[in-house]
Amino acid sequence: MSHIHYKALLLAATLTLAATPALAGDNAVVKHRKSVMTGIGAAMGATVCQLKGQCNMKPKVLLRQAKTLAFLSSISADSFRQATPNATMKTTSTDNVWSDWAEFDKGLNTMTKRARNLVKVVKAGADKAALGKAVGKLGKTCKGCHDNFRKKKKK
Ligand code: HEC
Repeated sequence: MSHIHYKALLLAATLTLAATPALAGDNAVVKHRKSVMTGIGAAMGATVCQLKGQCNMKPKVLLRQAKTLAFLSSISADSFRQATPNATMKTTSTDNVWSDWAEFDKGLNTMTKRARNLVKVVKAGADKAALGKAVGKLGKTCKGCHDNFRKKKKK
């Protein structure tokens, strides 16, 4: 099991413990969901680096990136489900994540499906064009959701 999977599982376990009523630590929940997204960002970054010809990963390493994306996407909904009104930790999630949960959840589901598709494409040893298409489709889900469910950066 790769390091990132292990870390995510560990965090997921921490979250389960933290989710006991009353004692629920909102900061721990925020930390967990941000870690999941950071892992997704790292695997996506590596994949795009490969696509641009700037990284020279072996096929099996590229496949691990894709599998990491699929795995972390699949646990993302559980990492966001609990609202965190009492968190003092910095978060860029907007309140509509929870008030508009169905829409948000749909976005995470689409990401998961497209990440699973990427795994298939990488496994098939697809050429750069096919890989680019799969990564592009996955990337659209990131931006689409971030535009609607994250605080905008101040310019
Ligand atoms: C359906 C919604 C949704 C999708 C899809 C999504 N994200 Fe996110 N992402 C969020 C939200 C909400 C946050 C803010 C988390 C917070 O600060 O509480 C976030 C935060 C992040 C962060 C910052 C984490 C941090 O430590 O503050 C990164 C990096 C990131 N996302 C990468 C990605 C990438 C890459 C993809 C696509 C492969 C993606 N996200 C897809 C909703 C989404």
